[in-house]
Amino acid sequence: RRYSIAVIPGDGIGKEVMPEGTRALEAAASAHGFEVDLQWHDFASCDYYAKHGQMMPDDWKDRIGKVDAIFFGAVGWPDTVPDHISLWQSLLQFRREFDQYVNLRPVRLMPGVPCPLAGRKPGDIDFWVVRENTEGEYSSVGGHMFPGTEREIVIQETVMTRHGVDRVLRYAFDLATKRERKHVTSATKSNGIAITMPFWDKRVEAIGAEYPGVTHDKYHIDILTAQFVMNPQRFDVVVASNLFGDILSDLGPACTGTIGVAPSGNINPDGTHPSLFEPVHGSAPDIAGKGIANPVGQIWSAAMMLEHLGEAEAAASIMRAIEETLATETGRTGDLGGKADTVSCGKAVASLIG
Ligand code: NAI
Ligand code: MG
Repeated sequence: RRYSIAVIPGDGIGKEVMPEGTRALEAAASAHGFEVDLQWHDFASCDYYAKHGQMMPDDWKDRIGKVDAIFFGAVGWPDTVPDHISLWQSLLQFRREFDQYVNLRPVRLMPGVPCPLAGRKPGDIDFWVVRENTEGEYSSVGGHMFPGTEREIVIQETVMTRHGVDRVLRYAFDLATKRERKHVTSATKSNGIAITMPFWDKRVEAIGAEYPGVTHDKYHIDILTAQFVMNPQRFDVVVASNLFGDILSDLGPACTGTIGVAPSGNINPDGTHPSLFEPVHGSAPDIAGKGIANPVGQIWSAAMMLEHLGEAEAAASIMRAIEETLATETGRTGDLGGKADTVSCGKAVASLIG
C-alpha cells in the first residue's frame, strides 16, 4: 500500500509542527507496512504570496488534485497579508473546489490536557462533531440595498438543498454505525427558523430510517450548547448545519481543553477529490519561530488522515502514542505545563508508535 500525500505547511508554526506530523506519519507507515509518498509544497502561504502576489499557483488543482490526501499546517500572516485574502485564496479554495462537504472534529478528553469541566476524566467524553461545510447559512445569496441611508436593508439567505443535507446526514449516520453507541444527535432550531430547520429535521427522519441500527435524537441549538457543557458524556455523533456546526466544533474542543491540540478533517467522502486534514489552530504569530509550538494537533491530524485512508490500526497506534506522551511532563509542551519543545514532543510521540 502506498499513499500520495500533498504536504502543505503554510505559515508560522505550521512550518514547525508539520515536520513532527510527517515524522509520526513515517513512523506509522514503517510500523504498519505501508508507504507514504510525501509531496511538499510551499504554496498556500504568505511567503508564497510575497514572492508571487497570490497565495497559490494558477495550476494548483493539477498539482494536488490527484493525491490521496492533503496534509495541511496553518495559513495566515496578518502583518503581511490580510486574513480574508490568505484564507479565501487557499484553504477555502480547497474546501470548495474539492467539494469537502464534511468538516469533522473529535471532542475527546485527553490525558495531560486540563479539562475546564470539573470532575471528568479521560474516557468520559468522546464524540464527533460533523459539520456541513458547503451550503446552509454561509451562502452568498442576498443583497445590500440603500447602503449608508436610513432605508438600508441587508439580506442573507440560508440555502439548503436536499442533496447537500442528505449527504452530510448520511456521513454522520455512517460514522455512527462504526461506533459503539451508534447514536446521532442533530442540531436544529425548528422552533424559530421555520422553513429551513423543519426541512433539516425531516431529512434527519428520512435518512435515520435508512439506518435501523442507529438511534437518533435532536436538540435545539441553544440548549444543545448548554448540554455540551453540562452533559457532554451523552453525545456520540453530533451533526449540524454549517453555522451551528461551526459553533459546536469550537465549543466541543473548548469543553475538553483541547482547542490547541485538536485536529480536523475537511472531507470529501465520495473520494472524487482529496480530503484535507489540519490542526484546528492557526499560524500563531505570537510564538512562531521559537520552536515551542505544540505539535499534537498536527500529529493527531495525521491519525485522522490515516483513519480516512483505511489505515485504522496505524491511526490507533498514533493516538496511543499521543496519549502516552501527553501523560508525562517531559512529553508535554509548555502550553500544557510541560517541559518539551516542538521537536522533543514530536520525537517522543514518534518513538512510541508501534
Ligand atoms: P491561533 O490559533 O494561531 O493562535 C491563538 C493562540 O493559541 C495564540 O496565543 C497561540 O500562541 C496559541 N496557539 C495556537 N496553536 C498553538 C500550538 N500548536 N501550541 C501552542 N500554542 C498555540 O489563532 P489566531 O492568533 O487567531 O490567528 C493567527 C493566524 O492564523 C491568523 O492569520 C489566522 O487567520 C490564522 N488561522 C488559520 C487557521 C487555519 O489555517 N486553519 C485557523 C485559525 C487561524
Ligand atoms: Mg470556526
